[in-house]
Amino acid sequence: MSFSSDWLALREPLDLAARNPEVRTAFAIRSAQGPHRILDLGCGTGASLRAIAPHLPLPVHWVLADLDPHLLQEAARRHPEAETQRLDLNDVAALPLVEGGHITASALFDLCSEEMVQALIARLSTEGNALYAALNYDGRVHWSEAHPLDGAVLGAFNLHQQRDKGFGPALGPRAGAELARLAEAAGLHVVRGESLWRMDASHADLQRAFLQGMQDAVTETGEVPDLQDWFAFRQSAVGGQGTCIVGHLDILAMPQP
Ligand SMILES: C[S@@+](CC[C@H](N)C(=O)[O-])C[C@H]1O[C@@H](n2cnc3c(N)ncnc32)[C@H](O)[C@@H]1O
Repeated sequence: MSFSSDWLALREPLDLAARNPEVRTAFAIRSAQGPHRILDLGCGTGASLRAIAPHLPLPVHWVLADLDPHLLQEAARRHPEAETQRLDLNDVAALPLVEGGHITASALFDLCSEEMVQALIARLSTEGNALYAALNYDGRVHWSEAHPLDGAVLGAFNLHQQRDKGFGPALGPRAGAELARLAEAAGLHVVRGESLWRMDASHADLQRAFLQGMQDAVTETGEVPDLQDWFAFRQSAVGGQGTCIVGHLDILAMPQP
């Protein structure tokens, strides 16, 4: 699955505002213990680096990893100080982890399969890595102005989120909770917190793109016959008084202190 840099740029300010401050602070404290290297999985254009680096007490060496060469090129252009690596996260055994090193990811694990997450957690627990996984979509979308089809549309959208996104059947809305469950089962210490998108009239472009993504996904499922009515209502409401909240979960999993 590919992601446009335009979409990533549109969501970046909201992701930044949504990040859970307690989880981010716990990661910053942990990272200060060294080694001073962070591997960012599915880096896109480098949003995690931009979000996290200002909160770290000490400078670190960033390794930005992604499969998409165009996004990686943009990440390298924006962050010449960082190292970039093109790699496929499906090959968890080949990830360039260093013992006790730190791993970050944002808006990634809802795309991933349970198998991939299990393999990653197994590596974390044997190699003593901390993982800070932010912005895992949790299946909740709430509009302040209700429409009778909201429940049906969201149900179909969440089903679509569990289709293969390049890793086999995706965890979709279960990603954050599963990540935490598997990490705890492996004996890791978990810190978790919500990271909600709160969209209002000032996020009209993002709202339109998000709605278009929902409409495309739900159309593919064929589950909501009157989808056009819902879509027309939602599009016309963008820019008005209403708000839209999208749920995410941030997870920090690390060896027991
Ligand atoms: C939703 S984007 C998030 C990007 C970035 N972390 C951010 O927050 O802006 C998911 C990222 O995962 C990358 N990705 C998807 N499948 C991948 C795979 N198999 N191996 C490596 N990267 C992958 C995509 O190219 C994309 O950059």
